[in-house]
Amino acid sequence: MNTLKPSILIVDDEEKIRKILKINLQQNYSVFLAKNGVEAQHYLENESIHLVITDLKMPGRVNGLQLLEFVKEKFKHIPLIIITAFGTVENAVNAMKLGAFDYILKPIKIAELIPLIEKALNYGELIRENSDLKEKLKKYEGRQEIITANPQMQAILNTIKDVAQTNATVLIQGESGTGKQLVASSVHYMSPRAEKPFVEINCGAIPRELMESELFGHEKGAFTGAVQTKKGKFELASGGTLFLDEIGELPRELQVKLLHILENQRFTRVGGTTFLQTDARIVAATNRDLALEVKEGRFRQDLFYRLKVVFIQIPPLQQRKEDIPVLVQSFLNKHRQLNVEGAQKLSVSEEALQALTAYPWPGNVRELENTMQQAIIFTKGGEVQLDNLPDEIRSGFHKKAETKEELQQEKQLRTETILRGIEYDFLKRLLHSTNGNISHAAEKSGYDRRQIQNLIKKHNLNVENFKN
Ligand SMILES: Nc1ncnc2c1ncn2[C@@H]1O[C@H](COP(=O)(O)OP(=O)(O)OP(=O)(O)O)[C@@H](O)[C@H]1O
Ligand SMILES: [Mg+2]
Repeated sequence: MNTLKPSILIVDDEEKIRKILKINLQQNYSVFLAKNGVEAQHYLENESIHLVITDLKMPGRVNGLQLLEFVKEKFKHIPLIIITAFGTVENAVNAMKLGAFDYILKPIKIAELIPLIEKALNYGELIRENSDLKEKLKKYEGRQEIITANPQMQAILNTIKDVAQTNATVLIQGESGTGKQLVASSVHYMSPRAEKPFVEINCGAIPRELMESELFGHEKGAFTGAVQTKKGKFELASGGTLFLDEIGELPRELQVKLLHILENQRFTRVGGTTFLQTDARIVAATNRDLALEVKEGRFRQDLFYRLKVVFIQIPPLQQRKEDIPVLVQSFLNKHRQLNVEGAQKLSVSEEALQALTAYPWPGNVRELENTMQQAIIFTKGGEVQLDNLPDEIRSGFHKKAETKEELQQEKQLRTETILRGIEYDFLKRLLHSTNGNISHAAEKSGYDRRQIQNLIKKHNLNVENFKN
């Protein structure tokens, strides 16, 4: 029962006040008593406190105002009520400017205090809910959906969905900018671990000497500069997912360590002797050909096998040209606020789309997204023109089609690609709106069931994914 009561921390150097408040409040609240600021800080750090009621003037290192600052800094969601004597109301008002919830005058009248407590507790709850919501929103808003019209990528989406439900280690391989990070985070957010942390570490960006402590943490005094105990990424990812980016760059000696952890699910901090358990799911990515790295002796074979329990190879954008039109449209929507004219809707001209489709995209989807962001800025009249695209994309386009037949052929290819993209988009929406029910989809679209089924097959979609 006790745990259901809100808990109040009362801080006053006068014993009498502490006692009176405790007697009057303990029936409905869990009451903690502190006789100075330092004691109060201790309770705040070790108990789950919902409200602080504190005197302003207290002897010792931490007075009421300093306690208020401490709460504002470390426990933003805990409201604080000031107890003040008649002559010092001004101080209490100042404290409110610094973020105190309210104040109450001495001698304290319980009949006045209770409604104030209730108000403050409600307020605290609102703040907590609000920041929980914000956290959640941040998680979900920041998430980019994987957009694709390519059958191979569609198969990858299905793999992600299946593997998300397991704890299997995943190795993602693909050129720079193909979406490795996006795939890794999708594995996390589609998994039952979604509410737990997704922790990333870039094995190529951290100096070798720091890498070990980054991964496993260190104990205080483990090396010069280790002034405090620090948690490593393995600990931070507890219950969640640890994304080891650019795993191909991991130094040999750490490859051994990583393998041990994957096998035993436990590790020690640098300079530590106690074993810590880890249950983090591992997703690793590389833009190297890891099998080749193994062959040439740069990457341990045993670790390679341990990592690629599930292996995802993301094809370069050049090999999935049908993704270009759908990605272009999605980036136009996503970044339309960049447009100087403030266009509500953006599209792309036929010619510009042809140029975009012809370009080889060495930087893959990232390069395409950057290109679209720049193009959007100066686009006039809501339609991106060939002129809005960078030189290398335009020139490639002009050079390519020389003879009439070539031009004709290319045009046909691009039209097919574009149509395929539109068809895919249409089908996906249709299945979404009918929860994957083929009869309904047929009825709604005017196609017959068989045609719908053929389309589903052609685009390698899985109706199960659209069912609620
Ligand atoms: N299929 C996709 N749909 C939508 N956005 C995508 C897709 N693929 C990649 N992107 C976007 O392209 C950008 C690059 O993707 P990401 O960072 O995942 O690539 P990467 O393979 O990790 O690249 P690098 O090897 O350079 O780290 C991101 O902004 C991502 O959101
Ligand atoms: Mg990346």
